[in-house]
Amino acid sequence: MPDMNAVVCTRYGPPEVLVVTRRPVPVPRDDEVLVRVHAASVTNSDIFIRSSSVPLHMLIPFRLGIGIMRPRNEIIGEVLAGVVQETGAKVRRLHAGDRVYGLTGFTLGAYAEYACLKDEVSTRGGLAVMPANLGFEAATAAAYGGLLALQYLDRGNIQPGQKVLIYGAAGTSGTTAVQYAKHLGAHVTGVCSAGKADLVRSLGADTIIDYRDRDAVARLEVYDVVLDAVGKKRTSAVREALHRAMPAKKFISIDDGPLEISLERLNRITGLIEAGVITPVTDRSYRLDEIVEAHRYVEMGHKSGNVAITIT
Ligand SMILES: NC(=O)c1ccc[n+]([C@@H]2O[C@H](COP(=O)([O-])OP(=O)(O)OC[C@H]3O[C@@H](n4cnc5c(N)ncnc54)[C@H](OP(=O)(O)O)[C@@H]3O)[C@@H](O)[C@H]2O)c1
Repeated sequence: MPDMNAVVCTRYGPPEVLVVTRRPVPVPRDDEVLVRVHAASVTNSDIFIRSSSVPLHMLIPFRLGIGIMRPRNEIIGEVLAGVVQETGAKVRRLHAGDRVYGLTGFTLGAYAEYACLKDEVSTRGGLAVMPANLGFEAATAAAYGGLLALQYLDRGNIQPGQKVLIYGAAGTSGTTAVQYAKHLGAHVTGVCSAGKADLVRSLGADTIIDYRDRDAVARLEVYDVVLDAVGKKRTSAVREALHRAMPAKKFISIDDGPLEISLERLNRITGLIEAGVITPVTDRSYRLDEIVEAHRYVEMGHKSGNVAITIT
C-alpha cells in the first residue's frame, strides 16, 4: 500500500503534539474522491481542535464530535485545495483532474498529501471546483474566509448605501467580509489595529477604526449591520459597545451557530473571485514540516488573512 506524508495529532495539547509522519494513502469509497492535497490552511478551528481549548459548556459536545481522548481522525486539518486524483464508482459530479477547494467538516484529514472526501457536499465536508485564477494556497483562504463571510453577512440582508461595520477586518473572514460588503454597495467601516489599516483600506474599507485607540468607542456611529469576524473569545471596549448598542439581529457574530459547508456558497465564492470582486489575503505560507511553527503563529491571534501550508 503506498504511503504519504501527513501530520498527526495523537493527543490534545500544545503545537508540539503535531508530528509529521508517514501514513497509508487513503482509498476512496464508492461515493468519495481522492484528492492530491496541494495546500491546507491553519485556521482557528484547527487550533481549537488540536488544543481542545473550547469553552467548558462546549467541551462534551466537542469531544463527542471530534474524539474523546484525542481527535478520532489523527490527521487533523479542515481546509484544503488540490487536484482530484481518483473517483469512486458512484461519483458523478467531480472528475479526475479537477482543481478543487473546500472543507472536510469534522471528518478532518487535510494535513496530508492525500485526503478522501465525499462527492456530495454536506456538513461532513465538501469540495467545489476552485477559482481558475487562484493558486492552491490562496484557494484555502477563499474557501474558509469565503464560507464564513458569506454565511454570516448574508444574514444581515445588506442593502446598497447601508453602513456596515466589520469587527476584525484583517482576519481571514474579515478581509473577505470587507470586500463582499463593498460589493453589496455598503459603506464599510473596518475595525483592526493600526498596523493593519493600510491592508483593510486597500480591500475597500471607507473608514478604519483602531480598536486599541483610546478614542475608538467615541468614533463609532450608528450602523445598519455589524459583523463580528473575530469571534466571541476575543473582545475589546469597541466590541462591547457595539454589542450593547446594536439590536440583537443586527449584531452578527461569526460564532453564531455552526459554519455551513455549502456548494451554492462555494460556487458563489468562485464566481466572485473570478470576477475580481474578492481577492483572498494570504499572510504566510509554511511547509508541512513547519506545522508546529504555523500553529504557534496562528495561536497568537494576530494574523492578517490566511496562513497556508504548502503540501506539494
Ligand atoms: N461558526 C463557526 O462554526 C466557526 C467556524 C470557524 C471559525 N469561526 C470563528 O471565526 C473566527 C475568525 O476566524 P478568522 O480565521 O477569520 O480570524 P482570524 O484570522 O484569526 O482573525 C485574526 C484577526 O483578529 C484580530 N484580533 C485579534 N484580537 C482582537 C480583538 N480583541 N479585537 C479585535 N480584533 C482582534 C487580529 O487583528 P489585530 O492583529 O489587528 O489585533 C487579526 O488580524 C474564529 O476565531 C472563530 O471564532 C467560527
